Amino acid sequence: MSNLENLSAWQRFIKRMTKVHELGKEKDIMTDHDYDGIRELDNVLPPWWLYGFYITIAISIFYYIMILMGNYNQEKEYVDAVEQGKKDVAIWTEQDKINNPNKYTEAVAYTDAENLAKGKKLYTSKTCFACHATDGGGGIGPNLTDDKWILGGGFKKIFEVITKGGRPGKGMVAWESSITKEERQQLASYIVSIQGTTTASPKAAEGDIIWDGK
Ligand code: HEC
Repeated sequence: MSNLENLSAWQRFIKRMTKVHELGKEKDIMTDHDYDGIRELDNVLPPWWLYGFYITIAISIFYYIMILMGNYNQEKEYVDAVEQGKKDVAIWTEQDKINNPNKYTEAVAYTDAENLAKGKKLYTSKTCFACHATDGGGGIGPNLTDDKWILGGGFKKIFEVITKGGRPGKGMVAWESSITKEERQQLASYIVSIQGTTTASPKAAEGDIIWDGK
């Protein structure tokens, strides 16, 4: 630690922050620990590290006071975040209602030939037939022509299943993002129209008789 005057301000700062012991003077701080000839120097903790440690202590006191005396705590932070999230969703939904009014109106069932024909076409082009068979008799997915329903029959329920998908892991995905609402209405209407039809190799009925008639 000699000749501090000859050093630049930066060098002096580094020296103060590290308090390194000068080379060649190890003897001064040599301990009497000796392990197979390996000896140990008694260096001081470097001040930069020590200050960091003091800062963490100061911060912990600050937090301790905040949590015990202030009204800040993790639970409140969580509740506030959920509140804010709900507000954001409400604002987003308001805007979405203006941008996509069609999304929020009730699904409409079709019975006219044109829309049913479109539904039939979609049933093939959107790969429904791959799991439910070309004639709706079922395969990987359930039979769509019998009167038993796993998730509920009737236009509304069928439209909902096509939109939101089946139970997790069963294979019926939500088609909301890949099939337009108009097309999902046509698909659901088509499925309603094939109720009770005879299929080539009908899959055994699954589920219960649930038909909400709408
Ligand atoms: C990858 C295979 C697969 C494809 C593709 C598929 N489904 Fe399904 N679907 C299933 C399975 C499996 C279920 C049963 C879901 C459950 O048990 O939760 C199901 C259930 C359904 C149900 C409800 C049946 C009931 O008994 O409640 C309807 C309606 C339906 N699918 C229509 C469609 C339509 C329309 C399409 C095309 C847009 C389609 N599915 C494409 C596998 C598929």
